[in-house]
Amino acid sequence: MSERTRYGGDYNPEQWPRHVWDEDVRLMGQAGVNLVTVGVFSWAHLEPSERAYSFGWLHELLDLLGGAGIGVDLSTPTASPPPWLSTRYPDVLPVDATGARYSHGSRQHFCVCSPTYRARARRIVEQLVSEVAEHQAIEMWHVHNEYACHVPYCYCDAHAQSFRAWLKRRYGSVEALNGAWGTAFWSQRYGDFAEVMPPRMTPTFVNPSQDLDYKRFSNDAFLDEFLEEREILRAARPEIPVTTNFMGFFKPLDYFAWAAELDVVSTDNYSDPASPDGMMLSAMHYDLVRSLNKHVPWMVMEQATSRVNWREHNSAKVPGQMRAMNYQAVARGASGTLFFQWRASRAGAEKFHSAMLSHSGVGSPVWAEVVGLGAELAGLGDFEGAVVQARVAMLFSWPNWWALEAPAKPANDLSLADQLSWVYRPLYRAGVTVDFCRPEEPLDRYEAVVVPSLYLVTEQQGANVVSFVERGGTAVLSFWSGIVDEFDAVHLGPYGGPLRPLMGCDVVEVAPLPRGETVEVEWEDGTRTGADFWADVATEGDGHVLARVATGPWRGRPAVVGTQLGAGRAYYVAARLDPAGLQRVYDRVPALSGPAASARADYGVERVVRVSSHHSYEFLINHSAEGREVEIAPDGFDLLAASPLGDRVRLSPMGVAIVRRETGRAHG
Ligand code: GAL
Repeated sequence: MSERTRYGGDYNPEQWPRHVWDEDVRLMGQAGVNLVTVGVFSWAHLEPSERAYSFGWLHELLDLLGGAGIGVDLSTPTASPPPWLSTRYPDVLPVDATGARYSHGSRQHFCVCSPTYRARARRIVEQLVSEVAEHQAIEMWHVHNEYACHVPYCYCDAHAQSFRAWLKRRYGSVEALNGAWGTAFWSQRYGDFAEVMPPRMTPTFVNPSQDLDYKRFSNDAFLDEFLEEREILRAARPEIPVTTNFMGFFKPLDYFAWAAELDVVSTDNYSDPASPDGMMLSAMHYDLVRSLNKHVPWMVMEQATSRVNWREHNSAKVPGQMRAMNYQAVARGASGTLFFQWRASRAGAEKFHSAMLSHSGVGSPVWAEVVGLGAELAGLGDFEGAVVQARVAMLFSWPNWWALEAPAKPANDLSLADQLSWVYRPLYRAGVTVDFCRPEEPLDRYEAVVVPSLYLVTEQQGANVVSFVERGGTAVLSFWSGIVDEFDAVHLGPYGGPLRPLMGCDVVEVAPLPRGETVEVEWEDGTRTGADFWADVATEGDGHVLARVATGPWRGRPAVVGTQLGAGRAYYVAARLDPAGLQRVYDRVPALSGPAASARADYGVERVVRVSSHHSYEFLINHSAEGREVEIAPDGFDLLAASPLGDRVRLSPMGVAIVRRETGRAHG
């Protein structure tokens, strides 16, 4: 990656007459743009009819951008096939669970298992490479666009065939499949792989293990297509980093598996600027993306300068908010922040989506912010490669997400996103930075791990967390954890499976509370906090009961249990505690309690620290509409204001300070 923070956006010049390109490049220079994504939706322009190619415009564009010193993130165009392809070969179109075929006319209308699509996708990527790969303006390869965004699951015959082959590889024999899926239930026993279907329309709940495997398989099918494209690009220019744009907490794809295949992890973040939780969710999104592959850089590939156009009501970012949100990304380690898109379209489904250059041109207030931020970022450099250092890991896995939210559960309104927000929110407010980790990942570098509803856990994953605690770590584990194995079959006995050594009690029943009902939880000192949504019915075990359910039918049952295990400690939280209750658990764990009170950021002010070998950079971002004064450790230097600081810093509404200190003086 370059030493400058990457700055720019999707550039779709095929939507504009040629003379506009010159103006674009001139204005990009004014805005400090140094990277643009080109070609994302250009298939129909590059191959207007089958095998008739038109690359002249792309050569000209690359020359123009390269000549102006603007780097190109060149995309393969496979996310939106041209109408001729699906007209001539309807089998490239995906099919929904009811058997209905999608049509062209928007985008992403392809079936990733269709041999016809795959061959044509390969061919256009090979053509792209043979035409322009040597061009010196290319700095990054951008494969496809937001894999699976609109059509994550296809149920066509090609999928059925590939699914069966995938199952054969996974299970070897149909007997093994029957065992893993529990097909003794409802007479679902298969005599042959040929009888197995994708989870198409069924009268009632489909077999949950089948559904889980279909999610795994669908993820793998998209990844396989990505790898095929990546190999073509790598073969041509191995030194050019490859990325594909993720969408943060996007359920259909296991981005941990994908990120292992990328040179740069990139993401598209459209957190709602008007939502009370928007900035917290955005921070969590970035923490996840930074954590997906802990050995490569990451960047924001897309975000909006102001409004999107696809929510029911699309709030604009308020003045300063776009800048504040960009610094949020930089604070959490982003090496670039790009937008969708450079110039707002005149026509098409996204014409009212904000852009760097609005319909009104340079007179828009957005333009002034875009130019201001570009200049500021250029002046800041790359923070000497300073990294975000987290002492806390949050365990998260896609298979758990898939299984947890499959239907026919005690509480079908239990969402993993809610569970994550519940445990992440107090940490965000306290300025505690979190890495996300797969449950099987080495955890030694962390002091504490938070485990929100790890419903699906394998023996190996459970052993990993248990041994982390035995060797001195601290784990905070929530209810509905350790319930099933990798096939979605229940770990029998009191609930908890391989996580039981951390629970200190026996969970013998699970009891979702009636909607809207709360119970009180009483702590050892007699004080009470609240809980809602869920209360385990647990009996005491070898742990120490720190709090009990105090009202309602499960009065007296353990609500929070602390357990000493080897050199470490675990806390089991058996109900959805209110913020005060959860804070009481976190207060027992130094890594979860945040920096010392004097350095703790006020509410509304996000705080993150990056550290290089020479300096620490403390980012303070005021997401609130009022000015804030924040106490800080003395002797810092405010990089944005270019002035030394005492023991406090004033932040205007949406204001940002980046406090640089010699390494060793940072707090946090
Ligand atoms: C993304 C997509 C872009 C654009 C943007 C609008 O999902 O990659 O092409 O559609 O959303 O917010």
